[in-house]
Amino acid sequence: MIIKFKNFTKLNSEEKKLVLTWRNSDRIRLKMINKDIISLENHLKFIESLNFRKDCEYYLFFVDGIPIGVIDYTNINENNSCELGSYLGNTDYQKYSILILYYQLYFYFKKNPNSKAYSTILKSNKEVYQINKRILLAKDLYDDDEKYVMYFEKKSFEKLTQIIMKQNLFLFDIKHIEIETDNSSPANTHEGGGNCNKLRYLNINLYKVA
Ligand SMILES: CC(C)(COP(=O)(O)OP(=O)(O)OC[C@H]1O[C@@H](n2cnc3c(N)ncnc32)[C@H](O)[C@@H]1OP(=O)(O)O)[C@@H](O)C(=O)NCCC(=O)NCCS
Repeated sequence: MIIKFKNFTKLNSEEKKLVLTWRNSDRIRLKMINKDIISLENHLKFIESLNFRKDCEYYLFFVDGIPIGVIDYTNINENNSCELGSYLGNTDYQKYSILILYYQLYFYFKKNPNSKAYSTILKSNKEVYQINKRILLAKDLYDDDEKYVMYFEKKSFEKLTQIIMKQNLFLFDIKHIEIETDNSSPANTHEGGGNCNKLRYLNINLYKVA
């Protein structure tokens, strides 16, 4: 299996439209904080703005060439902490939800081992709250009437990885991970290359998992 993360700034017009269809579907939109229907015009402007923004990164996630969902890192701050967001667009690939979330954390902690990643989940979205807590070992930070705020730490993530390896779960069937970023460097860019202090580990074009 080959999985690939493609930066939104690299999407072709068909992929851009696909992402918008997902984001505007009731199934996804109603689980977001911003529940407005997004126009194509605003969507394209938003994607264009990502070329210049350092505070967030959005990726389309592919499995064997098929686009299945989106992950994002927002509110990326100076200490490299950030907020995680995601959605599964292609419901035929429901079983990959956890894989997407796992790799979202994997890349985060590879670059930011000493910081936390935060996740906001609406109270109406209990299933994702349970996945975060029970499977991905997120901890509760606080909650209010509308939402839960949770966080992930490297220590818990390592524990999760050990569980996955011990139980020989599906995640390690993966042969390659390709990352196509907004960086125009050629293939085989090395991890950590460049002088940016953000999530630049995503410059890796091909990453082998044992
Ligand atoms: C964490 C979470 C709740 C955040 O929701 P959100 O803030 O609405 O998320 P987004 O990243 O889509 O939006 C962030 C901002 O970018 C804007 N934006 C995002 N995508 C955009 C797009 N395609 N076009 C235009 N603007 C866009 C939003 O309008 C929003 O702007 P605002 O800050 O002015 O409100 C959400 O990402 C999440 O992960 N929910 C839980 C997971 C889940 O259940 N997913 C659905 C499973 S099917």
